[in-house]
Amino acid sequence: MSEKNYYITTPIYYPSGKPHMGHAYSSIIADVLARFKKLEGFNVYFLTGTDEHGLKIQREAEKNNKDTQLFCDEISKKFKDLTKILNLSNNDFIRTTEKRHFKSVEALWNKLVASGDIYLDKYNGWYSVSDEAYYDEDEIEQIDGIKKSKTSGSTVEWVEEESYFFKLSNWSEKLLNFYKANPNFILPKSRKNEVISFVEKGLKDLSVSRTSFSWGIPVPKNEKHVIYVWLDALTNYLSAIDYPDTSSKIYKSFWPADLHVIGKDILRFHAIYWPAFLMAANIPLPKRVFGHGWILSDEKKMSKSIGNILDPIEIIKDYGIDQLRYYLIKEVSLGNDGNVSLENLTNCINNDLANNYGNLCQRVFSFIKKNCSNKIPKCDVFSSEDKKLTEKLKKDIPDLKKLVNNQDLNYYIKKVIEYSFDSNKYFNDTEPWSLKKKDLKKMNAVIFSAVEQIKNISILLLPIIPNSANKILDIINVDNEFRQIVNITSGSLNHDKELGNIEILFKKVE
Ligand code: MSP
Repeated sequence: MSEKNYYITTPIYYPSGKPHMGHAYSSIIADVLARFKKLEGFNVYFLTGTDEHGLKIQREAEKNNKDTQLFCDEISKKFKDLTKILNLSNNDFIRTTEKRHFKSVEALWNKLVASGDIYLDKYNGWYSVSDEAYYDEDEIEQIDGIKKSKTSGSTVEWVEEESYFFKLSNWSEKLLNFYKANPNFILPKSRKNEVISFVEKGLKDLSVSRTSFSWGIPVPKNEKHVIYVWLDALTNYLSAIDYPDTSSKIYKSFWPADLHVIGKDILRFHAIYWPAFLMAANIPLPKRVFGHGWILSDEKKMSKSIGNILDPIEIIKDYGIDQLRYYLIKEVSLGNDGNVSLENLTNCINNDLANNYGNLCQRVFSFIKKNCSNKIPKCDVFSSEDKKLTEKLKKDIPDLKKLVNNQDLNYYIKKVIEYSFDSNKYFNDTEPWSLKKKDLKKMNAVIFSAVEQIKNISILLLPIIPNSANKILDIINVDNEFRQIVNITSGSLNHDKELGNIEILFKKVE
């Protein structure tokens, strides 16, 4: 039963301010991967949501003079609205202020207490509210008299309070063994090495409760403590699938998760703390954590203080959602940081979508309308030249699947757009307009082959540009049930129905 199920998640976002391009990027990557697994025939569960507890959110609400829950409601709604704007195919949107989540976090806490992994003590040390993270002395530096985290650059403050601790130090060895036995648990590889060398230094016990504020999930049986926001947040991946009800259908079908898509800044939480909590609670571990790089604007990480924030909603209004999705996946090398700019977005839309894929569809469909009574011509004699394009694509399918399953989306998209480029060339070189009188059979073979390749390319583009690729498959009357990778090889085209209306798919950007 579980073989064909696939569970994929995005990070859950802090509703501390409106969503920006970095958040949109994490969600789009996860959506492309989720849609691809559907295309492969998997039963996919795709989760996203908001991470609403902790001092960061409490302070942000106070700054805005708002009741904390109301503040969360307002901003969480913006993230939920964004899922529609980005055309995400998520099955659920979890909020950590929901009852179902409290139940799940309490259950996990109780398991950690029962296994003897939690004890009460006092925390003295540095804390970054912005990262909601504890830092050791050697992880901070002083800049202009202010103590900051060396990695994130965020300001840290001194904390001294009673706290529960999780015995993380007990898990270093087991984590290292786990990484060794599961070499693809952390990807990309460069990130894995960072994590391993951190764990190899030896882990310290982790403070997992706070007493100096109240915006969180109370510790069971000691309500003056709230549970550390990261222990709370990570549990969202379980609470959305009914944990602690491990007999529920959704839990049984989807846990352990197949892939947590996250940004590289939150790798430590997902690749160290999360598996340690789960091992201690005797819950199976997720199969993979993929840490993508940052979206840079003007070569810098986007931040409110620098003022270089790109608003995805504005960009989508001006350029279109498929255009943005395509650009982010094609031009930002997944796993590395990537600068984005409107100039590059424009070039990408014009070169790949308008002049290449859009143009291919447009010219083939217009030709059919003018010369073939607006129906895809039938044909049973093909030259080797006619068959070359689709044969190459079909032969590549196992490799294409491998690329996506290794999260190598850039190479995948480059290959797919190359098929489109080659098809345009084939159309030019065979000059079907000159064949109508000379050799109708040959003309039909060319048009048939071009449409078949448009169908195949469009199926492969469905995860990335779902609106446009579906529109094209609608025009050539491909039934929904055939919009699957397996149907790339079946080659059935509809010759009876007229093509749907052709509209300009990708306007060129001036
Ligand atoms: N709430 C935590 C995640 C908890 S998951 C159990 C959090 N939230 S966040 O809103 O700050 O960030 C969520 C994701 O957005 C992170 O993976 C982060 O890397 C990503 N991005 C935020 N800014 C980014 C860029 N500039 N570029 C790419 N992604 C970045 O962390």
